[in-house]
Amino acid sequence: MREDACAVAVPFYDLWHGDGHVPMVRELLPPLLAGVRRSVVEIGAGTGLITELIARETPAEIYAVEPSLGMRSVLLSRLAADPGLLRRVTVLPCGALDLEVDEPVEAVVMISVLQSFAAAGRAELWRVLRDGLEPGGRLVFNWRDRAPAVPGDLEVLGSYQVGRHTYAVAGQVLAAEGERVTSRFVYRVERRGTVLSADEVITTAHWPAGHVVAAELKEAGFEPGDAPAGMQVWHAAGPAHVR
Ligand SMILES: C[S@@+](CC[C@H](N)C(=O)[O-])C[C@H]1O[C@@H](n2cnc3c(N)ncnc32)[C@H](O)[C@@H]1O
Repeated sequence: MREDACAVAVPFYDLWHGDGHVPMVRELLPPLLAGVRRSVVEIGAGTGLITELIARETPAEIYAVEPSLGMRSVLLSRLAADPGLLRRVTVLPCGALDLEVDEPVEAVVMISVLQSFAAAGRAELWRVLRDGLEPGGRLVFNWRDRAPAVPGDLEVLGSYQVGRHTYAVAGQVLAAEGERVTSRFVYRVERRGTVLSADEVITTAHWPAGHVVAAELKEAGFEPGDAPAGMQVWHAAGPAHVR
């Protein structure tokens, strides 16, 4: 069985991200899905926080791509609690590069996933997504230019009360070079100051500058669309652009 890099983070995911990027996406994503009616691929659906939003904002069938068993388990529980979602969402237990859909889709949504891909993987990702989209179909994702990361001390990033216990996430940048940032995260459960469990994960993320991402997308056959700061919309070029 493949190792699940997200396993340790899963119990903390909705707590932490519910007040992280998700409120911004809840505000900015709906207008970018206007007119989408038939089909959406969601890359890296995680626990389904954004899947729910897509389902609320469009009548489309959704393909939710999620390679992590832990994340997928929460996603399936979320779907199971809502018969409408259960009918409409197909969960694909694979990574984006192994995406296969029966026919090209109207839209691809990818929220807080791009940093998982190094440059070579991104080139392949854009090709796969472009091939999965109808001509003119839209790719929507969140991205913003960031200040260069600087190695530092471990800091608490979020702390949440769950019954009598506290769930805390702490993080620190260990190393940064070019677009590669290696960070350490510690996921801790505490009871009145006593640590019940503490799990550590070291991950490398990739944060290319916006102009790098734009050049890659143009090279892959996408054309830029209008989007508010923090979000990106790109359209798969029509048949005339097929490579
Ligand atoms: C930060 S979470 C975002 C989850 C969800 N989109 C959200 O915003 O709540 C990143 C997700 O991307 C998934 N992921 C990582 N590598 C991936 C890949 N190669 N293809 C698809 N998903 C991937 C992870 O398993 C994780 O669920």
